[in-house]
Amino acid sequence: MVLVVGSINMDVNIRVKSLPKPGETVLAKGITQSPGGKGANQAVAAAKSGGDVVMLGCVGQDEAGDALLQSLREFGVNTDYIKRTDEVPSSKAYINISDDSENHIVVDSSANFMVSPEYIASHEELFQQADYCIMQLEIPGDSVYAAEKLCQKYGVKVVWNPSPIDSYEERLLEHVDTLVVNETEGEVLSGIPADQITEADWNQLMEKYDIRSVVQTLGSRGSKLYVRGEEAVTFPAVKCDAIDTTGAGDTFLGALITMFSEGKDAREAFRFAAVASGIEVTRRGTQSAMPTRDEVLTKID
Ligand code: RIB
Repeated sequence: MVLVVGSINMDVNIRVKSLPKPGETVLAKGITQSPGGKGANQAVAAAKSGGDVVMLGCVGQDEAGDALLQSLREFGVNTDYIKRTDEVPSSKAYINISDDSENHIVVDSSANFMVSPEYIASHEELFQQADYCIMQLEIPGDSVYAAEKLCQKYGVKVVWNPSPIDSYEERLLEHVDTLVVNETEGEVLSGIPADQITEADWNQLMEKYDIRSVVQTLGSRGSKLYVRGEEAVTFPAVKCDAIDTTGAGDTFLGALITMFSEGKDAREAFRFAAVASGIEVTRRGTQSAMPTRDEVLTKID
């Protein structure tokens, strides 16, 4: 089973011609709402790829909370243990999406910050059953740490996507099995500019924190897998006409971990994940834009 501990947001998608520069005002071309959140997106991506997925997170006792749970259920995620709170509303993410498919995201944490270490501890039994635990950084760092400790206790592999990276804490690297980073996150963790970071630097980081592997996503340039003590491997992206890249990294990560949980080798797992995210970016939104396992398989030769 794949356990996802993370955020659940209602995304407010604001289409703009180009992203506003500091101090600039731009007009919206259209505004829509759709279920998102890095945790929920990664859970949906894993479930749509065929995984057995359970999620821990929190939504408000509001309409958005109903819609967010409904989306997770519809796409096959077990929501039985998700907390509901009447203290704060469901979390929202405000996403500016430009005509050239770039985005800026600002998250209002609200209910995500009710994912407390105590709530995590009250679901210890799920950690006993999990093979993988996927986490990000849109819930409190103390809760990520509490979940990592339970993973360590029960031998669960921690897959950590330190996003948003401005909440990064070094202690959270201590119990990670697989680190999944984009170029910006890689720069912050390593302290080395993206174009200068070498395989030796990644190996040093893995040695220091006892991390087994690092997956680096490079957008349209594909991805790289660094396994400690082995030679790095580069995997190509899939050519596509992207219209909205929101959730592309989440799709890639969720699909990849489902493949790994099935025991697929790296080549097959990365190919599946690349095709899944290549399809997702050709549609607007995140969870509904993610392809099913069958859709991905029909595109793989
Ligand atoms: O990774 C994309 C997600 O980031 C969006 O769905 C938004 O909710 C933010 O969490």
